Amino acid sequence: MLSDLQQQPADALLALIKLHNADPRPDKIDLGVGVYRTGQGETPVFGAIKAAERKLVEAQDSKAYLGPEGDMGFVTRLMPYIFGKDSADMGGRIEGMQTPGGTGSLRLALAMVKRAGYNRILVGKPSWPNHAQICADIGLEVGEFHHSAADGTANMDALREALSSAGPDDAILLHGCCHNPTGIDYSNAEWDEIAGLIAEHKVLPVIDLAYQGLGMGMEEDAYGLRRVLVEVPEALISYSCDKNFGLYRDRVGALYAMVADEGDLSRVMSNGHSLARANWSQPPDHGAAAVRMVLEDEALTAQWLDELDQMRERMRQVRAKLAAAGETGGVDLAPIGGQNGLFSIIPFTPEQVQEMRSKHGIYFAGSGRINVAGLTTGNIDQFIAAVADVTG
Ligand SMILES: Cc1ncc(COP(=O)(O)O)c(C=O)c1O
Repeated sequence: MLSDLQQQPADALLALIKLHNADPRPDKIDLGVGVYRTGQGETPVFGAIKAAERKLVEAQDSKAYLGPEGDMGFVTRLMPYIFGKDSADMGGRIEGMQTPGGTGSLRLALAMVKRAGYNRILVGKPSWPNHAQICADIGLEVGEFHHSAADGTANMDALREALSSAGPDDAILLHGCCHNPTGIDYSNAEWDEIAGLIAEHKVLPVIDLAYQGLGMGMEEDAYGLRRVLVEVPEALISYSCDKNFGLYRDRVGALYAMVADEGDLSRVMSNGHSLARANWSQPPDHGAAAVRMVLEDEALTAQWLDELDQMRERMRQVRAKLAAAGETGGVDLAPIGGQNGLFSIIPFTPEQVQEMRSKHGIYFAGSGRINVAGLTTGNIDQFIAAVADVTG
């Protein structure tokens, strides 16, 4: 009865976790999994979230259903951080709904793009692999362009070319900040140009903001998104709180739509609600309620922002140390210093990736993507020496 189901490839990163766990060497290093780690290699629950969770347990008097839109207090409390205090709903043109993580939000956003009649979406290459997977599942054709140039900066020529041949039948999916997997973000001046090009070619933007606050700062990381929103009439925004509130497994995200006319919001969002109903019916409550309680409390908000600052500062220090190593063996680590977020790509050959694992016990994706937060003062020199060894 189920014999027509084909075997699907295992998730490469999950397979990598197994390999790392099975390695008996005490000095092995995991740079694969996409979670933040402290200098001690831990992924702790934020203090602000712990405090909010305690309050939540005390205060919550019902777990009755909330509806497909989830916790709207959570959704609206986030808006000033995402869209800016002075334009939190762009004059009544933005509305959102809670989703299971950024992935749930992307699933709805891309399904809405398809429902709205689009057949093609431009996506930079490489991208987070789930972007292509969701598009394939939904039946949305992906138009690829090269995201990065050889010098470790954004390939603006490729993006310009992709947008110049695009039109009103096309959408574009952009990483708002902390590009996964390259760490290569657009500069503010580049965003200014991109926003203009998207508007000029009447392309529908879908902006994926999954790492706000992990790059340059909460405000700085929203520059591109906000810049695009002032230029275009309509857009979809996919948001994740799983990294910037450390809630990964609690699955906390939101989908926002900006429409041309306030009167269109209810019609557009009804599509998000009906798609959610058909997918998961209602999002999980706990993590989003904890985020809401952080944002409702001034002291907890300050504590959360402080904890986020410390994470970002640690990642900047790791990046600075890698960048200072410069030419290392056959690769240049300098561009990593100017990149953002959890990830960067080092141009290892497949053989070098294998050698990093087998000879040095250092595990990361076959693409050469490393999680910079997996490096600590205790292991960074070991990593740089291993890079020199396998690429030299
Ligand atoms: C670019 C990007 N978008 C969205 C997500 C989704 O995050 P989550 O579903 O864990 O909230 C991720 C997670 O790795 C990501 O890297």
